[in-house]
Amino acid sequence: MRKIGIVGIGHVGSTVAHLIISQGLADELILVDKNTAKRDSEVLDFRDAASLLPHHVHIASGTPADLADADVVISALGHIDLIEPGGDRFTELRANTPEVQQVGQALHRARFNGVLIVISNPVDVITGIYQQVTGLPANQVFGTGTYLDTARLKRSLGDALNVDPRSIQGYMLGEHGDSQFAAWSTVRVLGQKADELVTNYHLDLDAVANDARVGGFTVFSGKKYTNFAIAHAAVSLAQLVLSDAHNEAIVSHYDARFAGYISTPAIIGRSGVVANFELTLTADEQRALQQSANAIAEKTAAYL
Ligand code: LAC
Repeated sequence: MRKIGIVGIGHVGSTVAHLIISQGLADELILVDKNTAKRDSEVLDFRDAASLLPHHVHIASGTPADLADADVVISALGHIDLIEPGGDRFTELRANTPEVQQVGQALHRARFNGVLIVISNPVDVITGIYQQVTGLPANQVFGTGTYLDTARLKRSLGDALNVDPRSIQGYMLGEHGDSQFAAWSTVRVLGQKADELVTNYHLDLDAVANDARVGGFTVFSGKKYTNFAIAHAAVSLAQLVLSDAHNEAIVSHYDARFAGYISTPAIIGRSGVVANFELTLTADEQRALQQSANAIAEKTAAYL
């Protein structure tokens, strides 16, 4: 039995649920939201699809106490309504913190011992709060972080070079926010490095990286939230956990160098982050990672 819980059934949580149900990723899916009327309506809407699905999924409403034996819990709660166009995800910190503490304490009381995947923003800080409050081993708690921004970088590069984003390798690292950066030394397209792409295709690296970095807010500008890309990111990470894939993924996880959570590559499997892998970054990229860690710490102090 593969059991998944989703906490926060707004635009993002409901899209995560839809993907899990339509992909047949769980045998049992529990939806949790403080707005129980909304939660129950979403559950019934999904259950009405049960006879039309190619597989059986047990879908039910619940509370964090019902997630005791879940394999994966995904936190999608948030207050997107607080975000201004072109703003900062830290604007949600003060509102999200007490809710995250409440959910985390309830998971702790329930003795939840699965993997907690955090979407809630500002994700690098919220992931750390969840780890502290749940008392889970650090490897079992990680955030979607720049897994999403890396996908945006591939979209942007793919657009610029007219290639499918899936044939692009490389990483967006650091904060899931303003101080993230494209680690160009890690990028390969059809075997070519960034400097070759600049020479051969006149690629504007700064324009591509910036397009990806502000991508969340570009999407936000028209619809006032983002849901599809982030939901795909979270569900793809849940899939790596459930299948013990040992795939590389850029997730926000604890980094002792910065005494905090930040996105760098990790190996994802059944117990969450099953291994780190050390990237060989250039001196400039190492500096950018340090600066991004500093920015997270400074904004945490300023916004809390
Ligand atoms: C985004 C949200 C998840 O970037 O922060 O789409």
